[in-house]
Amino acid sequence: MTSGATLSKSSATKSVRRTRYACGECGAVVPKWAGRCDSCGEWNTIAEEALSATSIAGSAPPVAALPITEVSMVEATPFPTRVDEFDRVLGGGLVPGSVTVLGGEPGVGKSTLLLQVLFGPASTGQTVLYITAEESAQQVSRRAARLNTMHPSLYLAAETNLSHVLGHIDERRPTVVVVDSIQTVFDSELSSAPGSVGQVRHCAHRLVTVAKERNIAVVLVGHVTKEGSLAGPRVLEHVVDTVLSFDGDRHHALRVLRAVKHRFGSTQEVGLFSMGEGGLEAVLDPSAMFLADRRAGVAGSIIVPTMEGHRPLVVELQALCVASPAANPRRSVTGVDPGRVGLLLAVLDRRLGFHMMALDTYAMAVGGVRVYEPGADLGLGLAMVSSVSNWPLPAELVAVGEVGLGGELRSVSGIERRLAEAARIGFTQAIVPRSTPDLAVDIEVLRVPTLDAAISLLDIAPRPA
Ligand code: TYD
Ligand code: MG
Repeated sequence: MTSGATLSKSSATKSVRRTRYACGECGAVVPKWAGRCDSCGEWNTIAEEALSATSIAGSAPPVAALPITEVSMVEATPFPTRVDEFDRVLGGGLVPGSVTVLGGEPGVGKSTLLLQVLFGPASTGQTVLYITAEESAQQVSRRAARLNTMHPSLYLAAETNLSHVLGHIDERRPTVVVVDSIQTVFDSELSSAPGSVGQVRHCAHRLVTVAKERNIAVVLVGHVTKEGSLAGPRVLEHVVDTVLSFDGDRHHALRVLRAVKHRFGSTQEVGLFSMGEGGLEAVLDPSAMFLADRRAGVAGSIIVPTMEGHRPLVVELQALCVASPAANPRRSVTGVDPGRVGLLLAVLDRRLGFHMMALDTYAMAVGGVRVYEPGADLGLGLAMVSSVSNWPLPAELVAVGEVGLGGELRSVSGIERRLAEAARIGFTQAIVPRSTPDLAVDIEVLRVPTLDAAISLLDIAPRPA
């Protein structure tokens, strides 16, 4: 290296640097920002980071290392926020000293949810703080009035500068802090723009430190776009304790809250909300909601008991397969996995002799729900056959099972809970893979080895359109 002498000469004439550039992938420190890291060859991984005193020289550790036998095994206990579906996903509520990221597309309802979440602790006398770094304080307070979540213990500050945010925390000493959003707060010590990878990671790091030092539950809002192009939850995942994703289709009221990562418990619970005039409300009987507008006796429709985490949901799947006017037939899917739709069309065509490849295929899950699990295969396959044959499936029937490339059926997890839920809302017959074990459910169970056998058993015969 010949550059050492020139580097130290130039830095002596400049003011002391407080930041540096480093690769987020391999950790290499580079003199200036570049699109590609020279050390590891990765693109877009170089980001600016603050140079704190401790990164240059070690300091005395604030907490001494202990023999493992003397470490307290008492886990942090969560406190409920009174938004039950939110608490359910977190396994009881927010944990003091933890940091949670709530990710979701713009407009899905993150700010609405968190105002409702803050109201619970505020109404039990805790001081809580909402930092709005996107909307004005007036906009947020108007929304709180509409949502009925006004409370004098809920403090609101419109702030984007990280040091001021930390100042508000210092002043109010809240138990819960929401930062909405992490992409719009910035530290003026870094020269990179708000929302850049370096800023997002740095600001999150500072807030994590504050949460741990002061035992505050911090919730960071993170926007993600469909392309995932914005610096968001991806960058934050490693830094925080919990990552939640909030999903929903703009055109439907249903919103689904899931835990992607959760240091304090299971990631199997889901929260279901419906977005209405008064904000987000718990959906207590989702199956009934999904089936509310169902018209029985229509070819191409089937009911499938699916699972969202630990929760059984009974949903309607629909398929419409029609002769295509185009040389390249269309496939349009909503709420179901396009890959599995393609697989089923191929199996029906090659193994079962249905001429599916020249048809336009439309497939969907009704009600804004996403059913991407393989357990929906049998239902989707039957819906397609029902559509091409113009032969409605029995109205009281549900179907569940994974379809293999040979057309064989495989059992799926949680089958007893699925069928119990179907029985609860009045379905009387279930068609399932042959390998399904004996079940204690109040529904007639029809076992079949293949998709072909299911079609024969249901006696689906082509009818003129
Ligand atoms: P918002 O919480 O601002 O979403 P995000 O913070 O994720 O960007 O809410 C977005 C949408 O929700 C908005 O378009 C209007 C709608 N909405 C309702 O339908 N009812 C309500 O009570 C509220 C507050 C919002
Ligand atoms: Mg918002």
